[in-house]
Amino acid sequence: MTVLVLGATGFVGRALVPALLAEGVSVRAASRSERRGGPAGVEWVQCDVRAPATLQRAMEGVDCVYYLVHSMGEASRRDFRRVERQSATNVARVAAASRCRRVVYLGGVEPNGRPSEHLASRLEVGSILRAGAVPTIELRSAMILGNGSASWRILRDLALRLPLMLLPRWLESESCPIALEDVVTALVDARRVPLDRSRWFDIPGPEVFKARDLLMLVGSLRGRHIPALRVPFLTPRLSAGWLKLVSGADYNVARELVLGLRGHLLPHDDLYWGLTGHPPRLSVREAARRALETEAPMEGVGGWVAAKEERLVATLGHHEP
Ligand SMILES: NC(=O)c1ccc[n+]([C@@H]2O[C@H](COP(=O)([O-])OP(=O)(O)OC[C@H]3O[C@@H](n4cnc5c(N)ncnc54)[C@H](OP(=O)(O)O)[C@@H]3O)[C@@H](O)[C@H]2O)c1
Repeated sequence: MTVLVLGATGFVGRALVPALLAEGVSVRAASRSERRGGPAGVEWVQCDVRAPATLQRAMEGVDCVYYLVHSMGEASRRDFRRVERQSATNVARVAAASRCRRVVYLGGVEPNGRPSEHLASRLEVGSILRAGAVPTIELRSAMILGNGSASWRILRDLALRLPLMLLPRWLESESCPIALEDVVTALVDARRVPLDRSRWFDIPGPEVFKARDLLMLVGSLRGRHIPALRVPFLTPRLSAGWLKLVSGADYNVARELVLGLRGHLLPHDDLYWGLTGHPPRLSVREAARRALETEAPMEGVGGWVAAKEERLVATLGHHEP
């Protein structure tokens, strides 16, 4: 089997490619920029999902396509929803005209209330791909616990940098976070799960967690027991500014994260684990512990302090007579 991984350079894609290779699958990995290297045996292809001609080349001779593309980092683009819609339409069309027999898409969980623009866009991408001619499997995940994800970085920074934990209402949001390792297993299985038509499945982690309990857990893994203060009046705008200040995250990414947590992000069911026979193996605690353990020394608090010091030195140097 030959698979194309769109989004191979991303947080999830980087973990999925070696797992597919280990299964004996031929992997064509895509990026908008020219790439080389990576695990032995991987074939790189340059492809932009907004440019159908590059997609056609990338999909030649491919049996299955993984769609792990998104523009969360480009959320400042006012038209990101339209771009996402067009990208998904391109992939569905090019796949239909190729010999590809399956599309696998990793999306987000449907919230119980009105979804944020970002979550609505993720669900819309799933609908477009599932409406295409090629049978599509959409896996819906809550927050993925692993080093390298934008939302994990924000969570970790809040947990490890603050002397006092502010608790806005959105931190009451409940979800079933899942370890990156378990998401990768779910994706690897998705290429061969029996499928009579396009379908979506939730892929919940093993426990229900409030966002604030996850923060406290991550803090406690580094020996921090932080006093907490309820601030139910903190608006999404102020919250995003606060997250940006603490973690240095992109304001729009932080805002989308906050808006996405206005409701609960709970799964409808866990049918998928019964289908594959591979339920999640890692508890939330273990997944968070592994994510912290695999950080480079300059990430996390040490890196933050060093970066602040560097900036201070640069500023002082600038003012020297
Ligand atoms: N991270 C989480 O916690 C989480 C939770 C739930 C669901 N998900 C879903 O998992 C999927 C992957 O997320 P991620 O966190 O791995 O994303 P990520 O780290 O931000 O990576 C995004 C990927 O998209 C590619 N990309 C962006 N625009 C592209 C374009 N126009 N054409 C081709 N490739 C493009 C980028 O590749 P290049 O820049 O190299 O082109 C990059 O590899 C997404 O669908 C997301 O909704 C993630």
